[in-house]
Amino acid sequence: MKVLCISASNILHSKENSISQIICLRISEILSEKEIMCEIVDLRDYRLQPCIGCGKCFEHKRCYNDTDFNIIYEKVIESDAIFFVSPHYAPIPAKLSMILEKMEEITFLHWWKDNEYRSEVYGIPAGIISHGGACDWALKSYKAMVNDTIANALDTIQCKTVPYDSEWNTGISLPVQRVLEEDYIFPIQKYDWNLLTQKLRDYIELVLQEVADLFC
Ligand SMILES: Cc1cc2nc3c(=O)[nH]c(=O)nc-3n(C[C@H](O)[C@H](O)[C@H](O)COP(=O)(O)O)c2cc1C
Repeated sequence: MKVLCISASNILHSKENSISQIICLRISEILSEKEIMCEIVDLRDYRLQPCIGCGKCFEHKRCYNDTDFNIIYEKVIESDAIFFVSPHYAPIPAKLSMILEKMEEITFLHWWKDNEYRSEVYGIPAGIISHGGACDWALKSYKAMVNDTIANALDTIQCKTVPYDSEWNTGISLPVQRVLEEDYIFPIQKYDWNLLTQKLRDYIELVLQEVADLFC
């Protein structure tokens, strides 16, 4: 089984302290306990271009203008499950938006001609994990702005968003425990990693169950 974890942070200065990247590493560690291979795609390593609507993807199902998008898209297609780990920015990071819009365009142009069309990512289970700069009180807003936005795009490309429960039907959102104001231009965010890791474990189980169901 191959799992892909997309770390959607755009921010360069945080380097290995990017919260998205740390969450992806946690996911990878949890999966490696089960001997499941996980590849992390850190979007900061890719130069992506927005979709310009040239329509050339109708012929090749790849972007004519964006080699890095195509590299990521191949990885998505080859995955048995995908995790999207995204911070709340405005509302989602620009590079993640570029990936989603291109995957949408490739699928939409084919589906529009043939409503029976099955995309190359048809049915792949996807887990969505959002987070932001605030505590529990903000999670509902992260769901609406981040999880639901990503789930909507995944629905168009025919991936299967895995719900956490009936309320959190588009994945999970992880809170900051407290925010410190120090002599630094950015807020310092502190987390209860034991709590978050347990939540990740529970959600990963649900995503893996979805993959197992596909093979039954
Ligand atoms: C451009 C930008 C916009 C942001 N907007 C919000 C916001 O509206 N609400 C919020 O709670 N956090 C916001 N944040 C904070 C990030 O979501 C938070 O710091 C997150 O942990 C960053 O994750 P990362 O380290 O993976 O980039 C914003 C951060 C950036 C860079």
